Amino acid sequence: MDYSKLAGSNINSLVAYKPGKPISELKREFGLKRVIKLASNENPLGPSPKVINAITSTLPEISRYPTGDAYELRMAVAAKYNVSPKQLLFGAGSNEIIELLLRTYVKAGETTLSPAPSFSVYGIISQAMGSKCEWVPVRDDFSVDLERTLAAITPKTRVIFLANPNNPTGTYINAADLKTFIDRVPADVIVVMDEAYIEFADAADMPDTLAWLKNYPNMILMRTFSKAYGLAGLRVGYAIGDEACCDMMDRVRQPFNTNMLAQVAATVAIDDNEWLNKILTNNREGKNFLYQSFTDMGLNYVPTQANFMLVNVGDGERVFNELLKKGVIARFMGGSLSQYIRVSIGTMEENQIFIQSLREVL
Ligand SMILES: Cc1ncc(COP(=O)(O)O)c(C=O)c1O
Repeated sequence: MDYSKLAGSNINSLVAYKPGKPISELKREFGLKRVIKLASNENPLGPSPKVINAITSTLPEISRYPTGDAYELRMAVAAKYNVSPKQLLFGAGSNEIIELLLRTYVKAGETTLSPAPSFSVYGIISQAMGSKCEWVPVRDDFSVDLERTLAAITPKTRVIFLANPNNPTGTYINAADLKTFIDRVPADVIVVMDEAYIEFADAADMPDTLAWLKNYPNMILMRTFSKAYGLAGLRVGYAIGDEACCDMMDRVRQPFNTNMLAQVAATVAIDDNEWLNKILTNNREGKNFLYQSFTDMGLNYVPTQANFMLVNVGDGERVFNELLKKGVIARFMGGSLSQYIRVSIGTMEENQIFIQSLREVL
């Protein structure tokens, strides 16, 4: 049986997503005892203790199906952001939201659009759906070229993905620029603001997209519990948008797509501001430490609004591989970023180990 013939040409030419190397794999490979992973923009302090308690006390119930519409979580998120519960759609990570969006709104032959570099999953899912993501290069300073993105819109464009802050660059689109852009996007093109890292952003001119939703029915926000809330392993993300837009996607959604433990954990996490503040403080301090260290080492870095940053190390692949041997997992992005590595901000101890290892490698 030749499965490559059974799959379409779009699937044959797909390249699977390459996640950050797991800690256990590196320990095995190099016989290392201590490994730190700064590769997947995870939360280095873990989930809140209240979340752990909630999960533990829910464990005896897992023989039951989860609530199909994530009712409790829906109410908690709706209250937090002052939106209608019908404006929400939950998924197994925001990755699933991307898939639901494209399955619902993009037909074969239609296209999606995103600045590049950005989150590669937009391209993978577009291609898997028989669509194609058109990538619009960012400027030399890594800022998103919104004029060029506008110019790239064609009658076939259905969805535009704007990760804000962007991954892997950590750059952001400010409120004034975003407004000028969205005002000129055709009303039947969906603008997805992928706000996976929004909790970390502290720029004064970050757009208040939640407040804009009522003026832009073609705008959808995508958020996740994987980053600031420390629940990457449980897989829960969500969309906030127009009620009718969410209703269409809800018809496509699998009945029990977010699992019971994920729902319980996220419901507790969203209200634990104390823990979130701890995470954000750790991130701010780590960011300043890395900025200062890179400056001391004479390395150029890209200022970030997220929990990771790009640093120019000359030969990104070599440095990435040498760091691995020292038990530090960063990320080599390749392509136009071959001089860079991307590093997630860790605990202060992890940041110090990373900098010490980087000094040795360089
Ligand atoms: C920009 C961006 N969007 C979405 C995601 C997906 O996150 P998740 O599926 O864990 O919610 C990621 C994960 O790294 C990301 O960087």
